[in-house]
Amino acid sequence: MQLLRNADLKSYNTFGIAAKAELLARFGSVADLRSLLTVPELADRPRLVLGGGSNVLFTHDFQGVVLLNEIPGIDVINEDERTVLVKAGAGVVWHELVLYCVQHGFGGIENLSLIPGKVGAAPMQNIGAYGVEIKDTFHSLEALRTSDGEVITFDKAACNFGYRESFFKREGRDRFVILSVTFQLNKAPHALNTSYGNIIDELERTGITQPTITDVSNAVIAIRRSKLPDPTLLGNAGSFFKNPVVPKALAEKIKASYPDAVAYPAGDGLMKLAAGWLIEKAGWKGHRAGACGVHDRQALVIVNHGGATGQAVYDLSEQVLQSVKDRFGVELEREVNIL
Ligand code: FAD
Ligand code: EPU
Repeated sequence: MQLLRNADLKSYNTFGIAAKAELLARFGSVADLRSLLTVPELADRPRLVLGGGSNVLFTHDFQGVVLLNEIPGIDVINEDERTVLVKAGAGVVWHELVLYCVQHGFGGIENLSLIPGKVGAAPMQNIGAYGVEIKDTFHSLEALRTSDGEVITFDKAACNFGYRESFFKREGRDRFVILSVTFQLNKAPHALNTSYGNIIDELERTGITQPTITDVSNAVIAIRRSKLPDPTLLGNAGSFFKNPVVPKALAEKIKASYPDAVAYPAGDGLMKLAAGWLIEKAGWKGHRAGACGVHDRQALVIVNHGGATGQAVYDLSEQVLQSVKDRFGVELEREVNIL
């Protein structure tokens, strides 16, 4: 097992931040991971498991060991006439799993097409897009508990999923390495979810009247490409902040002053506000601060124009957060994992 010292992390994070890891190793199986965890030099070091590095911001070098998850494999482990259980290794690229499912006629995750990163990180923040979250089709996952090397199976309830939240992002953080995730998907005829965003517009634009899961996947891919920057061309980690959930009274107060404010009901006297709208209204869209800035097509995305430090990106996010708070009385919460 190769252990790299003073490893450059630039190509392992989609922000393209040039941080270093004291040590870096890869694992492709639970056996690899177990033996890595018993290497004396690594046993007491801080550890960071990385998938595609598309939801992290390195604000300094990582003093410890970065473990790159490369566990492969996509398998159908059970099926009946209507449903199928698909188990994927945590190192599988998420979009490749989506394409596999779409090609095999397994419906349920097509709205999550083109989300960067790997399968193992998807439960971390219960990834979501276009009206669907992984919790909707999640069956179970296997994770290694680092304290004793045991592999534990988590069902949906144990993962405690919420909006961009889970047990693994909170109490379970740094205590488990997710090894595989199993989804319960549907065979045709599929119940499609086309009500969110501009999926219907995109299907109409392309002349599709009776969409299949492939059509929905293609529509989502086209919409995402038109809005979100491609990290291979412009460093970013997607939405930097979550969309804030606020009391209805605060949302109504904002709406009274700004009738175009974007707000959706979020249950229990709460409303979810579009953080992109708040940030744009606070004047940040397209703003550039040295090598980093706020994306000019989607104000929720902070970008690295090239050569930005993680600290500069973080400082910009702090300014954005403060100005939204001053202007609207809304406190944004970062979605990206700050390291
Ligand atoms: P990483 O960045 O490598 O890791 C993220 C966190 O998970 C870290 O804390 C890491 O330690 C932990 N982790 C990773 N793997 C494991 C594991 N196997 N076991 C335990 N912990 C682990 N997200 C959405 O929800 N919806 C979107 O629509 C969306 N769009 C995006 C668009 C762009 C252009 C970009 C760059 C990002 C977007 N994201 C979106 C965010 C990101 O893609 C997801 O959060 C994704 O799941 C991160 O996967 P990753 O493998 O890159 O995780
Ligand atoms: N908006 C603005 N100005 C902007 C950006 C957005 O006014 O600069 C408005 C839009 O006009 C729209 C609303 O805000 O009315 C919502 O915008 P959009 O549909 O682009 O989605 P979002 O709420 O900004 C969320 C997720 C994305 C996900 C999309 C699609 C969060 C934090 N972000 O973005 O996820 O892809 O919806 O479902 O929930 C991510 O998590 O990294 C991510 C990209």
